Amino acid sequence: MSGAGFTSLSRCAVLAFRSTTGPAVRYAQTAAAPAAQPRIKKFQVYRWDPDTPGDKPRMQTYDIDLNTCGPMVLDALIKIKNEIDSTLTFRRSCREGICGSCAMNINGGNTLACLNKIDTNTSKPTKIYPLPHMYVVKDLVPDMSNFYAQYKSIEPYLKKKDEANEGKEQYLQSVQDRQKLDGLYECILCACCSTSCPSYWWNGDKYLGPAVLMQVSARSTGRTSPRTVQLTGAASFYPGLNPGKAIAEIKKMMATYKEKKAATA
Ligand code: SF4
Ligand code: FES
Repeated sequence: MSGAGFTSLSRCAVLAFRSTTGPAVRYAQTAAAPAAQPRIKKFQVYRWDPDTPGDKPRMQTYDIDLNTCGPMVLDALIKIKNEIDSTLTFRRSCREGICGSCAMNINGGNTLACLNKIDTNTSKPTKIYPLPHMYVVKDLVPDMSNFYAQYKSIEPYLKKKDEANEGKEQYLQSVQDRQKLDGLYECILCACCSTSCPSYWWNGDKYLGPAVLMQVSARSTGRTSPRTVQLTGAASFYPGLNPGKAIAEIKKMMATYKEKKAATA
């Protein structure tokens, strides 16, 4: 990037010297500015290619000059892929924290690579792994199949208590009901929270995990639905993390459900 910049600047400077007008002096002075010292940062990246027979997971180190790289870890990964090693595989799309596809483990924390600033301390490497305790498809790409299947299993859409008029009239949402979704609907399903939860690590096949439980809460506001019944499984709850408030709501909902069930038995 800087190379292209200097080439272009030099051309401007030559043209400026040929001119006899004032701006020529200004361009010449700009061209004479000293080059910035390289700031080489090491990125240690998890690599594993299932298509290469016998390949074992390993860490690969890449050197990046931070002067020629954007500020985020995703910028560094894109630079590695574009300029150093096109075989490096990772997911990304929006590069602004909306799609959730660049979720990975950076320096020990699950986060979005596009929102994670590169630590500019060049004496410490940045370590990048796929989301923990997930099957790996390749390099930094985790297999999200189980996570999405769990999401599908909770019927992730709004339902009404009374759906007798379904298809006959427009269902209007009150301002109050809309407000109940605040703090829940914003989830981008990146799976950072679920894959940082030890209960999800060990029981991911049975336990829905915080992200999906939060969606249960969002979609079940005030309604006893099949997803409520599904939550009676012992492994369905795990208190804590940021979706903790949503999980508390689910617990309240489950308590009410059990009381109602006992009363009608
Ligand atoms: S709640 Fe979990 S899955 Fe949803 S955006 Fe936050 S970290 Fe990602
Ligand atoms: S690229 Fe979309 S959230 Fe990072």
